[in-house]
This record gives sequence, structure tokens and C-alpha cells, in this order.
Amino acid sequence: MLTKDIWTTKDYSRVPFALYHDQDVYTQEQERIFRGPVWLYVGLEAEIPKPGDFRTTWLGDTPVLFNRDMQGKVHAFVNRCVHRGANVRRESHGNATDHTCFYHRWCYDLEGKLIGVPFQRGVPGKGGGMSPDFKTKDHALRKIRVEMLNGIIFGTFAEEVEPLRDYLGATMLWHLERLTAKPIRIMGYQRQRIHGNWKLYAENVRDQYHGSLLHQFHRKFGISRVTHTGGASLDPRHRHNISWGKEGSDSTEQFSATYQQGKVEVKDFGLSDGQVLEYLPEFEDGISLAICSVFPNVTFQQIRNSLAARQIRTRGINDFELHWTLFGYDDDTAEMQNFRELQTNMVGPGGFISMEDGEAVEVAHRATRPDADCSAIVEMGGGGAIPEEVEHKISDIPVRGFWSYYAELMDIEPEGAIR
Ligand SMILES: [Fe+2]
Repeated sequence: MLTKDIWTTKDYSRVPFALYHDQDVYTQEQERIFRGPVWLYVGLEAEIPKPGDFRTTWLGDTPVLFNRDMQGKVHAFVNRCVHRGANVRRESHGNATDHTCFYHRWCYDLEGKLIGVPFQRGVPGKGGGMSPDFKTKDHALRKIRVEMLNGIIFGTFAEEVEPLRDYLGATMLWHLERLTAKPIRIMGYQRQRIHGNWKLYAENVRDQYHGSLLHQFHRKFGISRVTHTGGASLDPRHRHNISWGKEGSDSTEQFSATYQQGKVEVKDFGLSDGQVLEYLPEFEDGISLAICSVFPNVTFQQIRNSLAARQIRTRGINDFELHWTLFGYDDDTAEMQNFRELQTNMVGPGGFISMEDGEAVEVAHRATRPDADCSAIVEMGGGGAIPEEVEHKISDIPVRGFWSYYAELMDIEPEGAIR
């Protein structure tokens, strides 16, 4: 059973492997986290620009359908027919004036109201049909409350939840508004199934320490190095974070000496075609790399000109799907579009950088399974109270922040928890 005693430290610097491998933990996460008082990333408004546009997604284990109605308003529903529970929409996206379940053709309007039941009154001369007191107006797809932030759609199942802007906090707001300051153009999608627990990925994106160690590409080509100016910024509750860095803020000598001193090999390899390494600095603040993770299910990535939302879709304790929405801006020049497309090679399931994250998650997942009572060490950057600002890139401090809020929602904070 999951109790407060599961932790061996109060500052979340040790994370018991049991949390990745226990079915009861997973079941409670679905209720307390994915159905809990959080704002989940649903999608981008630019994915459904026209009236009638719809898309399907998953929030935790729950299938979700979101669409734009004829008045332009965005709605999200549980993608499940009230009749017998089948998905109302099975396709990834489309445009329609209503949604009809494939099983018995029950039909819903774009606000989720049930508007049609075949043979509701039976067949003339033969009978059948629903009971006379059954009224379609009493039934609708289960609504998910949505709120927009500059074209980013967030949703919640909770009746009581803090306002979206308070949930995100000033620093995440600043960054998300920075990323969405111009109308967004959707470039496309990548999907991958990772055979590991979803929280190993939530940790991966909050762990800046691995950035130039696991990823040779970062290290060799200077996209992310510990010698760069950079760090991490967290919200006051430490549930979200931005890991950021500024390329070119170190010298070649500084870089070589530091990695040599740290005994980290910098392999001498190159690319036959170096186009993927070219980019156009586009944000005035000089931040070239920003990995912004919003609890619990999304990471917004800016790696040079490659922009994406990565959504975690849980699939049991041992699997999750990572769904990448790659985007640029409406006013991108042809040159910028080309840069964004080329740099897409760095991310996604086969990306020069991101490929290794999936591998690391799978390897750690398999290796931790037999020893649920052992723990991971999360102490880079120091233990104790979690700061809001970290001024170096040699830290996994935001990982402790993730666990701290996780523990609160799961009601397993240790006595005297240090947040
Ligand atoms: Fe990584």
C-alpha cells in the first residue's frame, strides 16, 4: 500500500523505485493527478482553426475529443459515447458538423449534446425503441472544462482548481506567452511508444544534468553545455520548470577544459551534411534552448528553431505514448520554415538528441523493476529546500519539485516534508 513512509528522505532526494512499478500507484495517479486539481495540456487552438474542426487526444488514460463549434468556441469532452462506452471519434482529426458513434450511430453536436438516437421510437408497425421517458436532452458527452492561454488549450476534470494563470505562475506564463506571442502554424506530428513509466520521462525533461552527458550531439555541437549561461526557473510550488541555456555564452577553451577536467569524452565526429546545425536566433532574450515542463503532462520545447509540445499519454505502468506537435509561426519566412524542418531531425523518436531520452527511460524502467525497495538518487545541485531559481546547468533540482507536488496530490507527503 502507498503510504507516507515510502520516502527515505524528506526532500525527495531519494525516489523509491516502487513508484514506477506498482499498479495501485498507477490507479491512484489516474484519479488524484490526471483527474485531480491540475490543468492538463489538451492541444493547440491552431490545430482546430475552423468551425467544425476536431481532434482526439488522451488525458492520462481518458480518451478526449476537442473541437471548435460553429460560433468558434473550443470544447473538450470525454471521447466516449454515453450509450455503450465506445469512442465517439476514432480518427485523429477531421472537420464535421456533428459526431456520430460508429457502434450504434448515436449522434452529438459540437457542444457534446446528444441529438440523435437511431430508432429511438422503434420501427413503425414493429415496435422496439427506447423507453418513452428517455430524453436525448438529458444526455451529453462528459465535458472537460477548458481554458485558453494564447492559443494553448488546457483542460481539467476537477470541479475545484486554481485559475490557470495562478496554476502556471509568473515564470511559466512569461515563457508560454513568449512562445505564443505570434499566431502558430502547425508543422506536423511525431508519435512514439516508450516502454517505461511516464514519470521517468517527467523526470527526464526536468533533469538538466543529463543534457550534455547523455546527448553527445548537445555536447559536441554546443547546443547545450554546462559551460553555457543557463539554469532552471521554477514556479513557487516547484511543480513546473523551465530549463534554459544560451548558446555561444562560453568559449571553446572553457568548454574543452571543463569537460576534460570532468573526464567527459567529447567524441570527434561530424556530419556529412551540416545543414541541421544551422539556425537563426529568433528570441531577443538570447535563450536558444528552453525546455518548459508543465505538470503533469506536457513539455514545451525550444531547441534552437525547433519548437514543439510533447504530450505524455499514459498507457499503464510500463508504457506511455509521447505525442509531439511541431510548430512554427504564421509569419515564418521560407528560410525559417526550412530551418525548423531540418532541425526536426534532432527531436522525436529517431531524433539525434531525443532518441536517447526514450532509450534512457526504457533502460532505467527495466533495470529498476526487480528492486522496488531501492531508490534513485536525485541530489545533483544539492538537497534541502527547493529553490525557485537555479543558476547553473548541473542540477536535477526540478525533479525534486515534481516529486514534491506529486506527493502532495497523492497524499503521501512525508512528515516534515521539505519542499
Ligand atoms: Fe534529454
